[in-house]
Amino acid sequence: MMLTNLKELIFSLKMKRKRRERNHNNILLHGSNDFCIGLNRVLWRKRHRIFSFVSGCLILLFFAVSVFCPPPTANNHFLPLHSLMRTVESNFDAVFQVPGTGGNLDHDLWSSRRSKFFYGCSNASEMFQTADVKTHPNRYLLISTSGGLNQQRTGIVDSVVAAYILNATLVIPKLDQRSYWKDSSGFAEIFNVDRFISSLSRDVRIVKALPLVGGKPWIPRRMSLPRKCNEKCYLNRVLPVLIKKNAVELRKFDYRLSNRLEIDLQKLRCRVNYHALTFTDPILNMGRLLVERMKMKTKHFIALHLRFEPDMLAFTGCDYGGGEKERKELGAIRKRWKTLHSSNPAKMRRQGRCPLTPEEIGLMLRALGFGSDVHIYVASGEVYGGEERLAPLKALFPNYHSKETIATEEELAPFSKFSGRMAALDYIVCDGSDVFVSNNNGNMARMLAGRRRYFGHKPTIRPNAKKLYKLFLARNNMTWDEFATQVKAFQIGFMGAPKEVKPGRGEFHENPRSCICEAGGTETIKKQTPVDYNANENNIRDATEGTDEQETAEDDPDWTDAEYLDNNTKELPDTDNNASNKHEQPEVEMLFSD
Ligand SMILES: *[C@@H]1O[C@H](CO)[C@@H](O)[C@H](O)[C@H]1NC(C)=O
Ligand SMILES: *[C@@H]1O[C@H](CO)[C@@H](O)[C@H](O)[C@H]1NC(C)=O
Ligand SMILES: *[C@@H]1O[C@H](CO)[C@@H](O)[C@H](O)[C@H]1NC(C)=O
Ligand SMILES: *[C@@H]1O[C@H](CO)[C@@H](O)[C@H](O)[C@H]1NC(C)=O
Ligand SMILES: *[C@@H]1O[C@H](CO)[C@@H](O)[C@H](O)[C@H]1NC(C)=O
Repeated sequence: MMLTNLKELIFSLKMKRKRRERNHNNILLHGSNDFCIGLNRVLWRKRHRIFSFVSGCLILLFFAVSVFCPPPTANNHFLPLHSLMRTVESNFDAVFQVPGTGGNLDHDLWSSRRSKFFYGCSNASEMFQTADVKTHPNRYLLISTSGGLNQQRTGIVDSVVAAYILNATLVIPKLDQRSYWKDSSGFAEIFNVDRFISSLSRDVRIVKALPLVGGKPWIPRRMSLPRKCNEKCYLNRVLPVLIKKNAVELRKFDYRLSNRLEIDLQKLRCRVNYHALTFTDPILNMGRLLVERMKMKTKHFIALHLRFEPDMLAFTGCDYGGGEKERKELGAIRKRWKTLHSSNPAKMRRQGRCPLTPEEIGLMLRALGFGSDVHIYVASGEVYGGEERLAPLKALFPNYHSKETIATEEELAPFSKFSGRMAALDYIVCDGSDVFVSNNNGNMARMLAGRRRYFGHKPTIRPNAKKLYKLFLARNNMTWDEFATQVKAFQIGFMGAPKEVKPGRGEFHENPRSCICEAGGTETIKKQTPVDYNANENNIRDATEGTDEQETAEDDPDWTDAEYLDNNTKELPDTDNNASNKHEQPEVEMLFSD
């Protein structure tokens, strides 16, 4: 078997040379080079196993190889072993050779076409009532957020809008210190509180703490809301309690506000998210330093949110070819989500719900036209499978950086013990990158995608995993050019260009279309209706979606950190008594039939 392969290799090598001589062209040269490098590697690996009986033959062969192949260097491109073997055996012309350069492109990779015709716009209309008119003196809204940094960010942004709807004063949100991410930082240790309060002062009154009444703080009534509650839902559910109790605390506040709201409320969301909510100075300064260091290395850089982390892989229930060991490890983590069924990896992948492997991401980027000279900043925690998993990506993009490689341990020390602060640094670098690549539909990817749209449609690539997966399966059967052409075609609509998302679709923080204006002065919304949704049907679904959290965990097509069950947080019983529970029943029904 080994010997047959070797014979074939020698044969193919001769063929290769003949063909090259015949062609005299340079276009193939790069690919051929790769081929030889791959071959060198194959031979190097095989040598150990069959040394005893073919060593002499091999040395000769090695000599032959080295005569017309340059030796592999650190910068060489990865060529999967199995693909090489297969292509050599089957089809000579269909070799999948990964080039080092991105090829000739008809457009600039570092900007979105037509982006200059669009800009972020979040000023309030004249109809918008200001805080001084609206704020009721005896209504205080508190929230406690949930999840990782960006999941919490959705809650913070939405809490301002909730307070506005309720004519309430907002108390600075409480961060989630008990989530999976276990960060003890308070709001003021991550976000600039004073800026948050002052820049929203026209919109909503915000205070740092509940005031005292008669020397004692108010005890807020704790409540939970369904996911994606709309304005009416707030008025029906929260307002009566707020009027009665003066202070309400909404718990686990993430994605509790509908994606579809009046335009002025959406614009308020954008003012909070893109202008008022900023990180503390130490975080901002460190983040900017990291961006500066990347810019010193190269004119343009890619930031990649790899998110190939064990919890993510376990949640999605995908199979990455790691066999029994992988299934056991990820299966154990998967138990965290009590509502998840046993996984069906093949189905997940077909549906495009599996993150790409680091190698697949690398191939996608090369196919899109990014050459091996491009610098990549990788924002990611622990990569499942470690260096071995990363090697193919690093081989494709040797200029590989992360916080840890461009900053010293001492510089990172004030942040490194806090997952939220580290995530904030990555957020800043990803935001400051020329091209941002996500590998999932998690909270950070969504948040950044929305932000980059708002601030000029900076290219933001989301792999079209549903389509790409078939291509990756078939890659041993095709030439690089065929592969690259297909990748480019599949990625249309997934590059962060203007108007990519259909109106009425997508999550607001990811696609803040009410806050994107066209340079002509017209907004991108088809018709200026007071309410920003097209179908009542969606509205009903919104209301029902949230009523059963277990269902959301399983059926939400988008992966979010929101689906984490807090294993270590004991559910606090709602202080609602029997009477108010009964009271709430008819309202639930009303929402269903809305
Ligand atoms: C929004 O308001 C600011 C100041 O209030 C103003 O400078 C800016 O031009 C306004 N933007 C738009 C798009 O109207
Ligand atoms: C909030 O205040 C405005 C202005 O006073 C009023 O029109 C509106 O009905 C109030 N809404 C609530 C929920 O109190
Ligand atoms: C590769 O091509 C062969 C024959 O051309 C075909 O039988 C096989 O199914 C293809 N494999 C993939 C993965 O597309
Ligand atoms: C979840 O909680 C149980 C019991 O409280 C504990 O035994 C288990 O280790 C916890 N799992 C995780 C992943 O934290
Ligand atoms: C409701 O009240 C009944 C009787 O008063 C009591 O047995 C029950 O535990 C209460 N349920 C809740 C959820 O408080």
